[in-house]
Amino acid sequence: MTEETQTPARRNFYGRAHGKTLRASQKTYLAEDLDVLRLKGITAAENPAREKIDLETLFPGTGPFWLEVGFGGGEHLVHMAAKYPGIRIIGCEPFVNGVAMLLGKIRAAGVTNLAIHPADVRDLFDVLPDNVFDKVFLNYPDPWPKARHHRRRFVTPDYLNELARVTKPGAEFRVATDIPDYVRQTLEEVPPAGFTLEKQAGLNEAWDDWISTRYEQKALREGRDPHYLTFRRHG
Ligand SMILES: C[S@@+](CC[C@H](N)C(=O)[O-])C[C@H]1O[C@@H](n2cnc3c(N)ncnc32)[C@H](O)[C@@H]1O
Repeated sequence: MTEETQTPARRNFYGRAHGKTLRASQKTYLAEDLDVLRLKGITAAENPAREKIDLETLFPGTGPFWLEVGFGGGEHLVHMAAKYPGIRIIGCEPFVNGVAMLLGKIRAAGVTNLAIHPADVRDLFDVLPDNVFDKVFLNYPDPWPKARHHRRRFVTPDYLNELARVTKPGAEFRVATDIPDYVRQTLEEVPPAGFTLEKQAGLNEAWDDWISTRYEQKALREGRDPHYLTFRRHG
């Protein structure tokens, strides 16, 4: 089941915001941890004028900024934060059950170099200045298999032009998907937005620091093969 909700910029979001009932522990994580880890100044309520934010102030530290779009249960996001303690990684995910799962994993891993925007990535894009991210991950984006829904995919100009704006020249953009037609559209749409394809890999050829996600495990169980695409933002 999907539901349609409106983002601060009054765009439609077609994914799921809620799933099955949260466990008591997950409700506790949401109540106790989310506001601490949530990136402030992104929502319409906190930033009605949609002014550009200063990430150095909102997410203080020293390392480069990385982004994961649609982190699902958060396994890849926490893995990257733990593996690279010198970076600052932001994860976006509107699905509250996924956010709750992530918060449990953050408690278990004890990582501190992670911030969350628990909503649509486009709200974050709206208020970010140019040239922020050194690396961006898009792992198993919603496939939207019907042709009339392809324009809802992340790999469309509305998302990609903003992604290009907020990534630094030379930044890496990784896409993992199990849907051949999503590979086709990614190869068609990402280069015109300002990225060069560096590598296209398949089953058992993931990035050295990859950790398989819940969605990838489901795809493998159902007989679909992963595709791993690596792009580089032009200078
Ligand atoms: C198919 S799931 C994959 C989740 C996870 N990356 C994985 O591999 O298991 C796609 C996720 O993207 C999220 N998503 C969809 N549109 C989004 C958007 N505009 N901003 C942020 N996340 C989004 C969905 O809520 C969903 O959890």
